[in-house]
Amino acid sequence: MTARKIIAVVGATGAQGGGLVRAILADGSGDFLARAITRDINSAGAQALAKLGAEVVAADIDDEASLTAALQGAHGAYFVTFFWAHFSPEKEKAEARNMAKAAKAAGVKHVIWSTLEDTRRWIPLSDNRMPTLMGEYKVPHFDAKGESNKFFTEQGVPTTYLYASFYWENLIYFGMGPKKGTDGKLVLTLPMGDKKLTGIAAEDIGKCAYGIFRKGSEYIGKSVGLSGDHLTGKQMADALSVALGQAVDYNAISPATYRSFGFPGADDLGNMFQFYCDFEHEVCAARDLDLSRTLNPSLQTFKTWLAQNKTRIPLE
Ligand SMILES: NC(=O)c1ccc[n+]([C@@H]2O[C@H](COP(=O)([O-])OP(=O)(O)OC[C@H]3O[C@@H](n4cnc5c(N)ncnc54)[C@H](OP(=O)(O)O)[C@@H]3O)[C@@H](O)[C@H]2O)c1
Repeated sequence: MTARKIIAVVGATGAQGGGLVRAILADGSGDFLARAITRDINSAGAQALAKLGAEVVAADIDDEASLTAALQGAHGAYFVTFFWAHFSPEKEKAEARNMAKAAKAAGVKHVIWSTLEDTRRWIPLSDNRMPTLMGEYKVPHFDAKGESNKFFTEQGVPTTYLYASFYWENLIYFGMGPKKGTDGKLVLTLPMGDKKLTGIAAEDIGKCAYGIFRKGSEYIGKSVGLSGDHLTGKQMADALSVALGQAVDYNAISPATYRSFGFPGADDLGNMFQFYCDFEHEVCAARDLDLSRTLNPSLQTFKTWLAQNKTRIPLE
């Protein structure tokens, strides 16, 4: 009998990492063991994962030594950063560097790094179609992740570069769901014009990541984009209308209007949606629906996600 391989998971109590830990634990083949990395092994989330059968280990991605210790003996590691917890691309880059160095020191055989496009490859800072933010970024929460890919190549860590897409849970938790207008009708407001937004159920990201680990070395050194559906705002509104049993109109606003909303990160998200629109073909092509479904045969479409989650979308 071959030894079971440990997959150490950063963000295990969160969306991406949690999906991966649950996917490992749900797999009856037992080829892999889940090691959940958390800053607080006594939290309710960490304890829930322990109850499901995960090994729970403390580490902080701001502390390279703690990560190196937490990765000892691990075959694989899943790495993600948490931009919306601090809004700092510099911190994301430092954390990615810590993770790459810790993986190298611990001899991890396969890292999956949850990255996103460095949009400055498509929209240099001199391109005035959108404002430059924080001095050196177009979409800070994308650019810092994409720039950080280099830390993994520099360290020579065997890495798969994983490109996630827009979580449909943003309609539940991020205030992006349909809202009632003054006439009482529901309206889905997105700065996507008639372009397609590539999206996914957050839980499926971890399930696809598990599919990558199960494929052995096939995806090492490669980029893999994930998506459950590529849909226009109108198509999303139509699907919401059917699921909610009441009409939802699509309200296409400009990225500039979205940037002007003024909530923390509105400018970053306005630029992100503009990138998604202006490079619709490239962004969708980089996130292959068939590959995502091959890695995770239970991949949800927007329609199947809505069937399970429609009552969780706040409508006021
Ligand atoms: N929302 C979207 O549509 C979308 C799409 C693509 C990519 N993303 C990216 O996804 C990333 C967030 O991933 P997620 O949604 O899985 O996060 P999440 O659900 O917010 O998970 C956060 C978890 O991260 C852990 N954590 C936070 N800071 C940590 C630290 N310093 N050290 C170790 N663990 C830490 C926390 O666990 P403990 O408290 O247990 O330590 C927490 O449970 C963001 O960078 C975002 O840009 C988001």
